[in-house]
Amino acid sequence: MKVLVTYYSETGNTEKLARAIYEGIEIAEKDLLLVNEAKNLEDYDLIFCGFPVHASSVPGKVVQILKSIPEGKKLAIFATHGSLRGGQLATTAFEYSMSLASKAKVIGTFGCRGQVKMDLIEALLKKPEHKAWAEEAQSAVTHPDDADLADCKDFAEKMVRKALKD
Ligand SMILES: Cc1cc2nc3c(=O)[nH]c(=O)nc-3n(C[C@H](O)[C@H](O)[C@H](O)COP(=O)(O)O)c2cc1C
Repeated sequence: MKVLVTYYSETGNTEKLARAIYEGIEIAEKDLLLVNEAKNLEDYDLIFCGFPVHASSVPGKVVQILKSIPEGKKLAIFATHGSLRGGQLATTAFEYSMSLASKAKVIGTFGCRGQVKMDLIEALLKKPEHKAWAEEAQSAVTHPDDADLADCKDFAEKMVRKALKD
């Protein structure tokens, strides 16, 4: 089995998850590539695709690769977000990412919080419509932490086992 871990990361949080996933894949051939480097998706049996949630959505650079995942290909999606785990902002982004990859067979998702850059928080705190979110995002400062990365590695192992079974 051949596995691709591909991701986009602006400030390094999603990259930490991508590296934990890559480490967690022990029984398959694997590649770790940025989304703009990932080619020949047909060559892989399982694709992990990761992104930071931007404006409750999927960053433009990731939209294209999700859309181009071949028919029936096994896909596991991972993301980092400043808002609380299980919150509406991240849920909306996960749902959208799955709709973009509508041809793929999504076998699992993993999300955790990621530190939000300070200049963004400061700018959002000044805007009444974004203030609540900016206050919530401040407590993501310690994430992803060691526990998040251990969970993410477990997720990778589970996804590989699941892909091998089907
Ligand atoms: C432009 C921008 C928009 C963002 N919008 C959201 C959002 O809507 N919801 C959220 O939970 N986090 C949001 N965040 C926070 C990021 O998702 C979070 O910090 C993430 O871990 C960054 O990952 P990275 O270091 O891989 O780029 C936003 C960050 C940026 C820079």
